[in-house]
Amino acid sequence: ELLAPANGLLTGKHLVITAGPTREPIDPVRYLSNHSSGKMGYALATQAKRLGAQVTLVSGPTQLAPPAGVKVINVESAQEMLAAIESVIATADVFIGCAAVADYRLAEVAGQKIKKQQDSMQLQLVRNPDILATVASRVNPPLCVGFAAETQNVAGYAEDKLKRKRLALIAANDVSDTSIGFNSDDNAMTLYWHDADGQLCQRELARAGKAQIAEAILRQVHSFLDTTSS
Ligand code: CTP
Ligand code: CA
Repeated sequence: ELLAPANGLLTGKHLVITAGPTREPIDPVRYLSNHSSGKMGYALATQAKRLGAQVTLVSGPTQLAPPAGVKVINVESAQEMLAAIESVIATADVFIGCAAVADYRLAEVAGQKIKKQQDSMQLQLVRNPDILATVASRVNPPLCVGFAAETQNVAGYAEDKLKRKRLALIAANDVSDTSIGFNSDDNAMTLYWHDADGQLCQRELARAGKAQIAEAILRQVHSFLDTTSS
């Protein structure tokens, strides 16, 4: 890949990034999770570091090596992820929610391994906190960036999340194309944001390696930092 050399674009900025799946325990030996590999969040952390930022990566379980020079906090559940974020977010200039946070957790985690009994069983789930929306509704929020993986109506859902979660930017991709996204080294995304007049803007990022996609997202973030600072 041909990437521009590091030029200190994000020097002096603290970026906090979530990555990977969360695991919601069912009992001591089982959990609910999803197929997130963490590659996109780790690519963002790596590129942000390369562009000069101080980077904190709060990561769910992945197979990936911690990026050099990045502070990594490993967590499992959504509640642990939120607690880790709250411990570091006060000094953040930018928050990027790239984790595939489980929307629900078990209402009660069994203390012992659940034994099979009937032919069917039900697990009761309760909503997890929305980490990105929680950060964005802080008193002095960092610039907040979200991701949206959708199987249909990508633009409509992305715009809805941009507004509802009060984000500066959302990066959306169509995961009905299973050749890219979740576990792939490549990605193709559309960025959505509102300009100063509240008009929805969009920019297509053509299929490329996750490092290049990450750099393009970070350059877009940098353009917002320039116009919102001072
Ligand atoms: N997100 C989060 N905490 C959650 C759920 C989502 O921080 N509990 C973040 C994700 O990291 C992502 C963005 O919110 O940046 C959008 O996640 P997504 O799952 O697409 O949106 P939801 O609001 O959960 O809506 P739905 O799953 O119903 O599409
Ligand atoms: Ca979700």
